Amino acid sequence: MSELVNIQSNCVTKPLQGKIRIPGDKSISHRSIIFGSIAEGVTRVSGFLNGEDCLATARAFRDMGVQIAETGPNQLEIQGVGMHGLRAPEQTMDVGNSGTSIRLLSGLLAGQNFSSSLSGDVSLNKRPMSRIINPLCLMGADIAGTETNTAPLTIAAGNKLTGIDYELPMASAQVKSAVLLAGMYASGSTSVTEPAVTRDHTERMLASFGYEIETAESTFTLNGGGRLLATEIDVPADISSAAFLMVAASIVPGSDVLLEHVGVNPTRTGVLDILKLMGADISLENPRLVGAEPVADIRVKSATLTGVDVPPALVPLAIDEFPVIFIAAACANGRTRLTEAGELRVKESDRLQVMSDGLNTCGIESKTTPDGIVIEGGKISGGRVNSSHDHRIAMAFAVAGLQSAEAITIEDCANVTTSFPGFVGLVNQLGFELESSTS
Ligand code: S3P
Repeated sequence: MSELVNIQSNCVTKPLQGKIRIPGDKSISHRSIIFGSIAEGVTRVSGFLNGEDCLATARAFRDMGVQIAETGPNQLEIQGVGMHGLRAPEQTMDVGNSGTSIRLLSGLLAGQNFSSSLSGDVSLNKRPMSRIINPLCLMGADIAGTETNTAPLTIAAGNKLTGIDYELPMASAQVKSAVLLAGMYASGSTSVTEPAVTRDHTERMLASFGYEIETAESTFTLNGGGRLLATEIDVPADISSAAFLMVAASIVPGSDVLLEHVGVNPTRTGVLDILKLMGADISLENPRLVGAEPVADIRVKSATLTGVDVPPALVPLAIDEFPVIFIAAACANGRTRLTEAGELRVKESDRLQVMSDGLNTCGIESKTTPDGIVIEGGKISGGRVNSSHDHRIAMAFAVAGLQSAEAITIEDCANVTTSFPGFVGLVNQLGFELESSTS
């Protein structure tokens, strides 16, 4: 990802139309590698997201001796090594931009009998790691980061872990999953209580691999010392990637787009609820259960959007989709207010500040608050913004360009491959007019 790629998003005059299957869910793809690797037997994965983040997780497990073969487009076969079969990696495992890789792997590595180190790119190495270091150290792990508790992280070998009852200080599925992964290697039981509902792919996938996990309201409990049995995983399309198309089809008059086989796990569908509150015309067709995950085809037609006060309960259920929800707000009539969303400041970029600055550059009035943003709907004028090392900022402004008076140029966009490989080609098929150039 060293080449600088810029995307120019040109205003479209024709409706967006067609049906597409967008790439696989990032969270589920990561977990398929993690659990498949430490299961007994061969796990087959279809619909795998070949994005940079998930490839970083695959690379880390290959570094630890797991054989992962590509058996077809987006298909993997993972030769599980069992709970205690991972080998010491020879060097620091570099997981690039991927917060999910570094946080979930830290939990898993805390329980191994070899030492390891994890690092990432400039964006990841600035993100807070005390949120996983603290609970894992409470369990007996020995993890050291930098003075400011950021990566690189070094995880010592062979520390005996003991189960804990942990109340998450923030709504984070990554922290919940890290503690549960460590709990599988701990003596006794480990439970995690979350302050608000967060994505539950870890809990669902543990059950699919036959590892018992108990759920009582907002508390998840498992016992250490169990085993995982290989399974088959069909990864649905990522609702977080689908969100870009949902907003795009909503704001371009006359559009009608069908997004096929999208994951609609209720812990992820906040974006549907928020866009519907704004007046979006979105319907779920053919809802079904695929393995452990609910899936549907999502039809989106253009609609007139109105600004809303985003209900705080929906924030963790739409946490990755806010950059493009802010674009919907920019195109809506009236004011949109978001509160209780301070977590957006510690994503791949400070998504409140970076989006607000970018919107202002493009002629939209917007102000941040300590934990949110206020956006006045208006006419997007166009301009030049930088992705700030953040794939979702890049794609959000590509959507903004659809309805701007002049083109929007987004600098430094190679990072879209983090979560949405093939973004430019795929969305152009629906009627976007994106041009990418390298410099
Ligand atoms: C993820 C959890 C979320 C989300 C991230 C993926 C996961 O992070 O933003 O893109 O797969 O568990 P937090 O746990 O920091 O909210």
